[in-house]
Amino acid sequence: MSEPEFSLTTRYAVMTEEAIDRKAIEEAGEILKRGGLVAFPTETVYGLGGDGLNPSSSKKIYAAKGRPSDNPLIIHIWRLDDLPVIAADIPESAWKLAETFWPGPLTMIFNKTEIVPHETTGGLDTVAVRFPSNKIAQELIRAGGGFIAAPSANRSGRPSPTLAKYCREDLDGRVDMIIDGGQVGIGLESTIIDLTGDHPEILRPGYITEEMLRQVLGDVRTDTALIDANSDVRPKAPGMKYRHYAPKGELTVVEGDAEAVVRRIDELVREQRAAGKRTGVICTDETLAGYDADVIRSTGKRTDEASAARELFRILREFDDEEVDVIYSESFSGKGIGQAIMNRLMKAAGQKIIRIEK
Ligand code: TXA
Ligand code: MG
Repeated sequence: MSEPEFSLTTRYAVMTEEAIDRKAIEEAGEILKRGGLVAFPTETVYGLGGDGLNPSSSKKIYAAKGRPSDNPLIIHIWRLDDLPVIAADIPESAWKLAETFWPGPLTMIFNKTEIVPHETTGGLDTVAVRFPSNKIAQELIRAGGGFIAAPSANRSGRPSPTLAKYCREDLDGRVDMIIDGGQVGIGLESTIIDLTGDHPEILRPGYITEEMLRQVLGDVRTDTALIDANSDVRPKAPGMKYRHYAPKGELTVVEGDAEAVVRRIDELVREQRAAGKRTGVICTDETLAGYDADVIRSTGKRTDEASAARELFRILREFDDEEVDVIYSESFSGKGIGQAIMNRLMKAAGQKIIRIEK
């Protein structure tokens, strides 16, 4: 299939949550209302927005991203009152979650109402809804009519953008406007919870962890296809089946005792360099000095997993810019936000991991 041609003149606006440029927001809102596309910051990652109730806008989003159209979009709202417009059979649990976590980095899945086009939901009768806390996002959603479908603002297969410059790299000429609101706070996409089944089920781990959700709902499960990488079960969030965030270089995660990991990565790097490969390492401040590779990037202090979450996608993109052939990464705890970091890192690695036994 040949790529459609894109020749839009992309407009740029720069603002902060504290100093929102009202004029630019109204302009962006007009673009959305007439079916155009606007990339914008949220607290998780940048989104590629279009009117979620307009089928032709959703089609444009898929085209601009180069994304398969069976992969449903999240509809973003700016006030809780709007939820029943797009979601049907809203369970009590949803109102409880909304009270605790909205606005914020949590996406909930409901049965959809008639008004939501199948073009937005990838043909499903359910709809994913998120109420972001970022003020620029809220203002834009309001100005754009209230229901903004937005996947992450990357070209399909690339890491989600945590800075506006990555939206420009991926989407210049493909969208009408890009709003630069600086670096995002969280850096990984929202937690997704499905509320349409017998038990609330996490379909994508994120900043809002299973423990946090359990404190509100009691019984919460995680989609087993996410836990067992070798499982043949299809993940329930269609997007989770695609190999995402893949850097151009071949990435392998190395897990085990910290010193043993440094030693093994150093060995692997030496072998690869001897074979003429350009090498990269993802590590933490504590181990940084122990490596000798072509490109070495720290995610911050080992205990600071919020920093690792924020920096991971930027680091993966930088390895592409540096044209690294092979990358080795230390692993993260897998608890709390660490679980979301490991989920994204393992996807980027195509599940390749070396476990060093004690
Ligand atoms: O933090 C975020 O959620 C960001 C920002 C922009 O809000 N958005 C985002 O969207 O990550 P996207 O399209 O990159 O990822 C949405 C995920 C996909 O894996 C998709 O398959 C899943 O949500 N999803 C959407 N609607 C669904 C539905 N009705 N049922 C199951 N999974 C759904
Ligand atoms: Mg995405």
